[in-house]
Amino acid sequence: MASKFQPIGVFDSGYGGLTILKEFLNDLPGYDFIYLGDNARAPYGPRSFEVVYEYTLQAVKKLFEMGCPLVILACNTASAKALRNIQQNDLPKIDPERRVLGVIRPAVESIGDYTRNGHVGILGTAGTVLSNSYPIELEKWAGGMVIQTTQEACPIWVPLVENNEIDSPGTEYFVAKNIRNLLTADPEIDSIILGCTHYPLLLPVIRKFVPEGIQLLEQGKVVSSKLVEYLSNHPEMDDRCSKSGQVNYYTTENEEIFEKNAATFIGRAIKSEKIILK
Ligand code: DGL
Repeated sequence: MASKFQPIGVFDSGYGGLTILKEFLNDLPGYDFIYLGDNARAPYGPRSFEVVYEYTLQAVKKLFEMGCPLVILACNTASAKALRNIQQNDLPKIDPERRVLGVIRPAVESIGDYTRNGHVGILGTAGTVLSNSYPIELEKWAGGMVIQTTQEACPIWVPLVENNEIDSPGTEYFVAKNIRNLLTADPEIDSIILGCTHYPLLLPVIRKFVPEGIQLLEQGKVVSSKLVEYLSNHPEMDDRCSKSGQVNYYTTENEEIFEKNAATFIGRAIKSEKIILK
């Protein structure tokens, strides 16, 4: 077992990845983690491919420098726009022994437990939707099966969450509008992937506008159970992950603001440190 501090890195553009980390802490108690939120440059959703890739690569390099043998991009936008490039082009040069994983594949691989008729809705940031990552991955996963995927970009949802507007009437307006658009585009949808790690925070509002009978796939639990599976299938990586139960939080924004908002996401008070990504 690793004797040095070799935590699992969890990266998001802001606070959303905390909804994933929360499940990791439940399922992998005793493992060490570093959470890094690029709050100063969030949201990533409207940013171009090049910029999301550049920022995500900076974060991955930083997490490697901090000792992480494994980094999870707990952000759909970063997974959609940067993961493949990093895995295929950067990792072999930086360190082929380390791993970077995302959140889209785990959600796609779990959709069979949710849909009965193959009509799947995706709610995500503009970046995730434009990348077409979900339809592409769902088609690969489905093999010959017919999966009808309909996407709706919700560009306002992340700013509403990041600005603490979860309970405001404005949030209800935008959530209702985007869900209506999605279900009008395909009235047969029987399951919806919440394709953004910020969206679980909006669940009470989302549930108000999604008819009963439509299943909602939240990523936290499925990503976490896939990580547990990954570690048990890769004992060499599991051995490298240190296990002293330490969790360190870093943000590119002001620590006090981060700590105050992060507590809502993770459900307890935390301490953080500011770092600069470049
Ligand atoms: N949490 C990120 C995701 O899952 C997006 C937030 C952002 O736009 O920065 O897509």
